[in-house]
Amino acid sequence: MAGRLIDGKEISAQIKAELAQEVAKMQKESDVTPGLAVVLVGEDPASKVYVGQKEKACAELGIFSQKHTLPADVSEEELLGLVGSLNSDPQIDGILVQLPLPKHIDENKVIEAIMPEKDVDGFHPVSVGKMVIGLPGFRPCTPAGVMELLKRTGVDLVGKEAVVVGRSNIVGKPVAIMLLQQSATVTVCHSKTKNLSEVTRRADVLVVATGKPNTVTADMVKDGVVVIDVGVNRLDSGKLVGDVDFDGVREKASAITPVPGGVGPMTIAMLMYNTVQAAKKRAGILI
Ligand code: GUN
Repeated sequence: MAGRLIDGKEISAQIKAELAQEVAKMQKESDVTPGLAVVLVGEDPASKVYVGQKEKACAELGIFSQKHTLPADVSEEELLGLVGSLNSDPQIDGILVQLPLPKHIDENKVIEAIMPEKDVDGFHPVSVGKMVIGLPGFRPCTPAGVMELLKRTGVDLVGKEAVVVGRSNIVGKPVAIMLLQQSATVTVCHSKTKNLSEVTRRADVLVVATGKPNTVTADMVKDGVVVIDVGVNRLDSGKLVGDVDFDGVREKASAITPVPGGVGPMTIAMLMYNTVQAAKKRAGILI
């Protein structure tokens, strides 16, 4: 029997509705409007789409947003200067520099220039360190979205075998840490893993973030697995697919995320969540 769909669109809409209420309350009681600055460098088409989605979500929730578009040949110095001025702008609670950046710019340097209090992407080493030791702080949006999907689907993680395929700084590594924090037994696989299917077949919960279609097929999972597919791949045919063979794996899964409409909308919802948290701190609602 086909597993049930984990509807990221529906769950993200719910989160955004909750946040819109919080924004309205904050404005009424503290006269604070959350503000997000999004910085886009160059003309990467996917980045343009993502930035557009982030601005749209801000508008829906009553969050003030500011877009800064810089040419692909902007100097690192100029970009760092913009980040510096956003750091000291009292209207801005969150700063997001859309990645990837052009090759002549050092991404790590830019990430580290964002003050940790405004690091709504959760990429700053201070945020990463806090996550690893379980302190409050900004969590990166896509892994946080994965965890929220599991939570709101009622998936109990305690003592479960969780397998993560992919070890990127943006998804694989942080989601592994977050699963561990929830007391799952976590295994991280990657391109050099020997006998991948032997490991994935152990999974009660399988998170796939490799950026490669068909990384996981039906023969690689056990019956009843919960599958979270983080991939977004455009096939030559124009079709958008994840990293998992959805139709095949769904037959064995108890629950699975679709692509599109799974993790994608959750990333945006968690960015909005982080921005609202940052503004709450400014309003003195959170300590
Ligand atoms: N590029 C792909 N995903 C992300 C993300 O979550 N944040 C930023 N800033 N850039 C990205």
